[in-house]
Amino acid sequence: MHNFRVIVLTSGMSRGSNLLAMDNYFKNHNLPIEILNVFYNRKEAPVANRAAEQGIEPIYFSTKDFALYEKNLLNICRQNKIDLIALAGFMLKLSSDFIKKFSKPILNIHPALLPEFGGKGMYGIRVHEAVLAAAKSVSGATVHLVNHQYDEGEIVLQRAVNIADCISPECIAEKVLKVEHEIYGEAVWKTLMKGK
Ligand code: GRF
Repeated sequence: MHNFRVIVLTSGMSRGSNLLAMDNYFKNHNLPIEILNVFYNRKEAPVANRAAEQGIEPIYFSTKDFALYEKNLLNICRQNKIDLIALAGFMLKLSSDFIKKFSKPILNIHPALLPEFGGKGMYGIRVHEAVLAAAKSVSGATVHLVNHQYDEGEIVLQRAVNIADCISPECIAEKVLKVEHEIYGEAVWKTLMKGK
């Protein structure tokens, strides 16, 4: 079987922990999936060095001119026959035009159990603050397909975690991040297999 090829998109001060967890999942399970590049839009983002250390080529692209960003991204995807794009801490919205032209799956990971605690403005610590304020004893992570609405595409994989003992959003974030790392690689593989 040929190698499936994946590009990961990040933005801002991305740590890249999902990128590394995903890559390790593919390697540990001997899956024929290669992460070709990770895109980042802030030169100081830790993800660039972490990716390079892992053997994944980081590519810096400014997102200031977003139309140009999407054009460059699409070119690279076409040239390299990319099978899937995975968003990991990517806070911008891909245009419907891009989604249509790329025409392969685009996945996102959200740090809560969608459809709850999703939508515009629901990212990072805000999600966990909202979960805490709603006095939930369970949260989790969701991998979903990206469509033109925030966090509304079809759910690919979701896993819950008990957060009953958490009294801070940081505590929830830590538990949820572990779940994110467990499920993202698996969700990518599941999506690629579904397309076969
Ligand atoms: C994760 O919590 C993810 O759910 C959110 O952004 C964060 C990215 O973390 N969309 P990292 O850069 O992968 O460590």
